Amino acid sequence: MPNISGIPVTPQAIMTGRKSLPLLSLLAASLAAQVGALYYPLREYKGTSFFDRWDFYGNVDDTTWGNVTYLDRADAVSEGLAYVNSAGHAIMKVDNTANIPPAPQVDRGSIRITSQDTYGAGNLILLDLVHIPYGCSVWPSFWTLGTGTWPDGGEIDIIEAINLMGHNQYALHTTPGCKLDTNNSDQTGQVQSTDCSTPSGCVVAETKADSYGAGFAQAGGGVYATQIDVSGIYIWFWSRNNVPENIKSASSTSAIDTSAWGPPSAAFPSTTCDHSQYFTAQQLVFTTTLCGDWAGVPSIYSQTCHTPKNSCVDDNIIGPGSPTYDNAYWEISYVRTYVAAGSQPGVSGSN
Ligand SMILES: *[C@@H]1O[C@H](CO)[C@@H](O)[C@H](O)[C@H]1NC(C)=O
Ligand SMILES: *[C@@H]1O[C@H](CO)[C@@H](O)[C@H](O)[C@H]1NC(C)=O
Repeated sequence: MPNISGIPVTPQAIMTGRKSLPLLSLLAASLAAQVGALYYPLREYKGTSFFDRWDFYGNVDDTTWGNVTYLDRADAVSEGLAYVNSAGHAIMKVDNTANIPPAPQVDRGSIRITSQDTYGAGNLILLDLVHIPYGCSVWPSFWTLGTGTWPDGGEIDIIEAINLMGHNQYALHTTPGCKLDTNNSDQTGQVQSTDCSTPSGCVVAETKADSYGAGFAQAGGGVYATQIDVSGIYIWFWSRNNVPENIKSASSTSAIDTSAWGPPSAAFPSTTCDHSQYFTAQQLVFTTTLCGDWAGVPSIYSQTCHTPKNSCVDDNIIGPGSPTYDNAYWEISYVRTYVAAGSQPGVSGSN
């Protein structure tokens, strides 16, 4: 994690974590739960400076093959697809104003941003947001991506859903050998698959209400928390009314204690997946694609969307854009990142 500027002890924190892995793995196996811990604030992405430390993709969707072009920063701003609204929330949206004619090749403008900062073992990431993109053909994701050739550096999917799905799902993507340890996972979500090297990864479905779509928005949004620890990777979700008091009352300079949060929605203990082997430093990524190799697969599309031609592209992307994409936007209160106490003495209130 070389990119957390001005805070040089972070790489050392990772090294320390790696050295102590066998012991912590044993602990994880016997405790069968995530390690509650105190975290100090590292960085806040929020308000008018939200976009400062991210790179805009500026290319077609060449990873999930959705029918979008991810604008560069200048176009994203001038076309009004990335901005900060009057509430101080960062907005990233799919173009809902262009009228796209039928043609051999069609696509819409959208946004993909990648953090310049990287994170790994010893970090905690909080995302507070009030709206996640949804609708037929819409495929949003908040995820982390390891450096190097995919999936060599690993991938953590924190928010990912498609079309009119009623819930969020979590996944890891790795090279072969990393499994979700169902025998040692204290989690509230529902395990869907356990081999993290398969195309869909090892997947846990959220079971709490209002984790995605119209329900998420109507509940006032919520918070997703991701703890990357040598003992495992743990993800929590709370709908707005259930957000823990220590997150609700926190400022950007508050330390956060995870020990009172209860079991996470998704737990990926390192007992059956040595994370130091499968995950390099991770960049944070927001994307919203359309159709592509999950949302656009006809048999999957038709599970939640029943449109005139049963066609993801023809029934959505082609045409005026509104109202089809009126809900295809992120509205983010903040992303806050933290570092575990002990792994980084002396860091506090870096903002
Ligand atoms: C949508 O994108 C895919 C992947 O790039 C492409 O093969 C397909 O032709 C596109 N569909 C249309 C109608 O442009
Ligand atoms: C869980 O435990 C059962 C019984 O001991 C074993 O057969 C199975 O392989 C274990 N699963 C994993 C993922 O370790």
